[in-house]
Amino acid sequence: MTATPRTQTEPVAFPQDRTCPYHPPTAYDPLRDGRPLARITLYDGRPAWLVTGHAVARTLLTDPRLSSDRTRPDFPAPTERFAGTQNRRVALLGFDDPQHHAQRRMMVPSFTLRRAVELRPEIQRIVDERLDAMIAQGPPAELVNAFALPVPSMVICALLGVPYTDHDFFEAQSRRLLRGPKASDTQDARDQLDAYFGELIDRKLKEERPGDGVLDELVHDRLRSGELSRVDVIAFATILLVAGHETTANMISLGTFTLLQHPERLAELRADPALLPTAVEELMRMLSIADGLLRVATEDVEAGGETIRAGEGVVFSTSVINRDEDVYPDADTLDWHRSARHHVGFGFGIHQCLGQNLARAEMEIALRTLFTRLPGLRLAAPADEIPFKPGDTIQGMLELPVTW
Ligand code: HEM
Repeated sequence: MTATPRTQTEPVAFPQDRTCPYHPPTAYDPLRDGRPLARITLYDGRPAWLVTGHAVARTLLTDPRLSSDRTRPDFPAPTERFAGTQNRRVALLGFDDPQHHAQRRMMVPSFTLRRAVELRPEIQRIVDERLDAMIAQGPPAELVNAFALPVPSMVICALLGVPYTDHDFFEAQSRRLLRGPKASDTQDARDQLDAYFGELIDRKLKEERPGDGVLDELVHDRLRSGELSRVDVIAFATILLVAGHETTANMISLGTFTLLQHPERLAELRADPALLPTAVEELMRMLSIADGLLRVATEDVEAGGETIRAGEGVVFSTSVINRDEDVYPDADTLDWHRSARHHVGFGFGIHQCLGQNLARAEMEIALRTLFTRLPGLRLAAPADEIPFKPGDTIQGMLELPVTW
């Protein structure tokens, strides 16, 4: 679609709920007319910019004049519960360079493509084990709790060196952190996770022979040497654990739902499993589960024919950006043969997802094994009755009843 000047009269309220779990909210349809930037209103009535065009998004996501520092007073808050925890530092995602660069450099060796390849046998083992358990108890099954959530949860525990036996606790706190419902739930969840990781760090400090998890390395190499403080290690642990399981769990559940709603695409994938890596990219583009990346302008910035003023909030709608017809013709159609590369489902620029190699490996192994072992997998309830997440959090299925 070629950009045409448009005068938007009413700013759209952001965020909105999706009407179909794998399409952008229909309320954003007026914003999909080719103009790369639009005005929106946040929950507290504050105006902000919404970035909807692909080229402008990639330019702005690499612009150092847009800050990720959520402690800035003018940083945009999409929800009351986000505003309630804005004074709390979030490792990596909440920092600008040069601090961000220093933090990222410490983390990168644990999240390389090579590390993800090394983890594949362990991921496959976990996937097989969860499916054995689900098959032994069913059919039917509720796929979120039986499979989509435990797989990434177990993988990130193994990688970080967090005991999976505590999963009920940290999964519940992650849920409250991301979804509240009240602002006080989010604050309390942060406190509980801080206390939990504080104790875990103390236990690890006492161990004579450190384990081989990422947290063990941080505690024994960087905390002991004074390079990182206890608060720093807690902040790393929180973002890695929360970002490491909630997001991937949503991609597995929503990816499964989307495939079951597209039987022809699923048949293509079954006939040619070599399509799987490109299919995962196309699902990342189509589902755009992390919809609404947040920044604030620290100086005036010209972009897409508009001037973003210093102090204005900038929100990136990945779901709309990833449907830009200039880059993805027939963007609403799921197509394994298009090049979905350059989607912004993992973000772009310095904050581009640290865990993307791991997430891709998990999605590929989980989806391939699920559909291979259960060729008759189907929904166990009418598709339009299955609940999915509201628009103000990471997108995904709340439940996924299946049978086979
Ligand atoms: C399919 C699953 C995933 C999706 C859709 C996803 C999405 C994203 C997105 C969109 C960002 C950029 C946010 C921004 O720029 O504001 C991001 C950053 C991040 N992700 Fe992921 N993510 C996924 C899996 C993971 C996993 C498995 C981990 C493992 C630890 C992880 C850790 C992180 C971290 C630490 C950052 C912040 C990076 C930085 O600021 O330098 N993510 N992710």
